[in-house]
Amino acid sequence: MNFKFSALVLVTAALSIVTPALAQDGMAKQGTAAQWNDKGQLLQPVGYREWIFVGAPVTPNDLNDGKAAFPEFHDVYIEPTSWAQYKKTGEFPDGTIIVKELVSVGAKSAPSGNGYFEGEFIGLEAAVKSADKHPKEPGNWGYYSFTQPGAAPLKVTALKATASCNACHQASAKQDYVFTQYYPVLRAAGKH
Ligand code: HEC
Repeated sequence: MNFKFSALVLVTAALSIVTPALAQDGMAKQGTAAQWNDKGQLLQPVGYREWIFVGAPVTPNDLNDGKAAFPEFHDVYIEPTSWAQYKKTGEFPDGTIIVKELVSVGAKSAPSGNGYFEGEFIGLEAAVKSADKHPKEPGNWGYYSFTQPGAAPLKVTALKATASCNACHQASAKQDYVFTQYYPVLRAAGKH
């Protein structure tokens, strides 16, 4: 291999490594695992509405004195490769990312009856299990919030907010800091 050719190969290889990291508007690339920038901020995952939907807890403001900690519907999704592993082993593998998208209560009655019906998207939270990024956190889970006050557009990147988040998860979640007790899809995967 002459010098020019090998230099070209090197440049091409370097570009192919760098290119995937150039996510649009700082957001993560579709269909990939959790990604962080060099400031340790998690990039907002994209395409998560096409992940595996595991449940929809709802804590309506009107049952929580107008101040639900996470208003109101919580649509929870797990990233598909983590899900495939979970089905096989019954454990959340390193690299698992779970998001909960917050959705306001819209209508309270529908032709089907009175109840709570989803309104608008208002927030996004994420939990990521990574021994590399969160070596000291319980279960290696790091928690991130992309939600903005007043439901302004979501943040594109989020700093780890573990301390304010994991107390509840540590105290009450059924399996590995995840609230599997509220996700029939995960329970039906068969191991728990
Ligand atoms: C007041 C207790 C409490 C706090 C504080 C809390 N969570 Fe949770 N979290 C829950 C409960 C309970 C669930 C499951 C039921 C639900 O969504 O209401 C949950 C579910 C989740 C889920 C879905 C996966 C799972 O583990 O079940 C994510 C992601 C999540 N929380 C992220 C966060 C983030 C990020 C923070 C900090 C900004 C946080 N949580 C703080 C109680 C809490």
